[in-house]
Amino acid sequence: MKDIDTVNMSADDWDEQNFPRPDTNEFDRVVERAISRRGFLGGVLAFGSGAAAMGTGLLSGTSAEAQAATNRFPFTPIDIQTDFDVHLPEGYSWHTMMRWGDPLFSDATGYDVNAGGGPVEGSDRVFGENTDGMETFSLNGRTILAINSEYTNRGTNLPADQEGVPANAGDVRKLQNLQGVTVVEVAEGETGWSIVTDSPYNRRIHHNTPMQITGPAAGHDLLKTAADPTGTQSLGTMNNCGSGRTPWGTYLTCEENFNGYFGSTAEAQDQKPNALVDGYARYGIGTDGWGYDYHKWDARFDTAQNPNEPHRAGWVVEIDPTDPESTPVKHTGLGRFKHENAEVVLAADGRVVVYMGDDERGEFMYKFVSNGAYAPGGPTEGLLDDGTLYVAKFNDDQTGEWLPLTPETTGMDSEAEIRIFARKAGSAVGATTMDRPEWISVNPHAVEGYCCLTNNRNRGVKPNAGGDATPVGGPNPREVNHYGQIVRWQPHGDDHAAETFDWDLYVMAGNPTVHDDAYAGSSNITPGNMFNSPDGMAFDSSGLVWIQTDGDYDNEGDFEGMGNNQMLVGDPVTGEIARFMTGPYGCEVTGLCWSNDRRTMFVGIQHPGGSWPDGEGLPRSSVIAVKRDDNAVLG
Ligand code: FEO
Ligand code: CA
Ligand code: CA
Repeated sequence: MKDIDTVNMSADDWDEQNFPRPDTNEFDRVVERAISRRGFLGGVLAFGSGAAAMGTGLLSGTSAEAQAATNRFPFTPIDIQTDFDVHLPEGYSWHTMMRWGDPLFSDATGYDVNAGGGPVEGSDRVFGENTDGMETFSLNGRTILAINSEYTNRGTNLPADQEGVPANAGDVRKLQNLQGVTVVEVAEGETGWSIVTDSPYNRRIHHNTPMQITGPAAGHDLLKTAADPTGTQSLGTMNNCGSGRTPWGTYLTCEENFNGYFGSTAEAQDQKPNALVDGYARYGIGTDGWGYDYHKWDARFDTAQNPNEPHRAGWVVEIDPTDPESTPVKHTGLGRFKHENAEVVLAADGRVVVYMGDDERGEFMYKFVSNGAYAPGGPTEGLLDDGTLYVAKFNDDQTGEWLPLTPETTGMDSEAEIRIFARKAGSAVGATTMDRPEWISVNPHAVEGYCCLTNNRNRGVKPNAGGDATPVGGPNPREVNHYGQIVRWQPHGDDHAAETFDWDLYVMAGNPTVHDDAYAGSSNITPGNMFNSPDGMAFDSSGLVWIQTDGDYDNEGDFEGMGNNQMLVGDPVTGEIARFMTGPYGCEVTGLCWSNDRRTMFVGIQHPGGSWPDGEGLPRSSVIAVKRDDNAVLG
């Protein structure tokens, strides 16, 4: 990075710069655990019929055509690309369904993304920026999407001469309006899918939308503010990254890098109440914020005035997309951390299990298990709040445990504090520090879960923000891990509520054209399908797993031959992985869901480069609709 570019810096880099982890040699690096490629294949990819297929070298050296002929993928895998367009296999096509700034209501047509972001007025009546997780809902034949807008680019949304710095409260309000969640009805017509303008279901939920806080931490002193002395009513949901859906038809939106929105008008960090400093440091809450400067224009975000406000972010929020009047709910039962997504599945006895990753270097994987059971049509109150929060511990022998976070196990004072400072609770019980857990997805045809561990340049180099060591080993087997891997676990007893599991790695990404050791990747990685930094992930109804990447796209050095970020599909049984789509240069491919007839796949393209998709003007994060030319089901 040339200069410190806080306008375009990733959340990840920002945290690293502002909260540098101390270099350390204090813990045992156990370099021998950076297993040789041979040893890795023999040891870690051990269970399931996939191990046999991968061990035979079935995939290595086979041509794309031969792969297509022998696998379950109904397409010929495509090559990498480095251009500013979307590419799909022959027999598939795509069109842009909605772009950042497209109006949801006919009175919002004055909004112009190319004019310094357009006016404040109407900025809460258009599709938000930087599309991320999304889910499809069906109501009386209508198709309703709920879509996250993770963050906003200050440089393009404010007048150019301000260089991304808000100059007044209106600027801040505009930035707040363009993030959050969009609920939007879409329909397929002669020219493809498009927004149903003025649908009664269209709705924007942003940084100022009233929310209810429920669960074990609701009403706790740490959640009380001057504006909300009850600690149960907050405003807004922020940095909405991954998504989830409940069996009862509601949307879950997950607050990730919420820390960047807060700052302090006091001059020094030590002017904050001491009791909060621990929590601030672990969650990366500093004095200057991420450059949004909300705290200078909106006192709610000024930690000098409202030290508890950051505790009211970092949660999973439930939204009913079929009721535009409903109040979103922040469920403190699910813990507070940098949530990626929330994968909901039912245990054998009907209890609700929610798998969640905390996307930061060396942070943890979590699971919530409800006390009550869900029955279709039955009451749902408390099912995301009343229950046990667990954190994952992976053992080197490919077994693992979900460790319950309770006052007894953590030594912390209350269930409320455990949820508010879940990271601290995870550290207290010795959870496994992971290589940035991103999306988790559960196989609908087998009792097993998958989590993308996107990368971790600090693996084996630095501890996490809580001082927990990040030794090389287990599901995080490579020091300075630039490529990422996908860990898979099978709960004992075929029950997602079980407290023990077996695990393996479904894939270890790498570059076999550059490396011949563990950094070449597992044997289901070939020069024909290689990628880095798996992030988004979703199973389709046929049991194939779709993998989206958010990695290095410079196509040089360690990443040579990987091209732009992409979407691949994997067979969980054979381990085979094939490239299905490449995105425009600069983008991250994130967000995936299907139409109710499953003949369309909706895919998110976040922060593209060039002038995609219009070919002129600013690049615009967009959701595209992908179809087979024969209109067959595609997932
Ligand atoms: Fe918003 Fe971890 O991705
Ligand atoms: Ca992500
Ligand atoms: Ca990512």
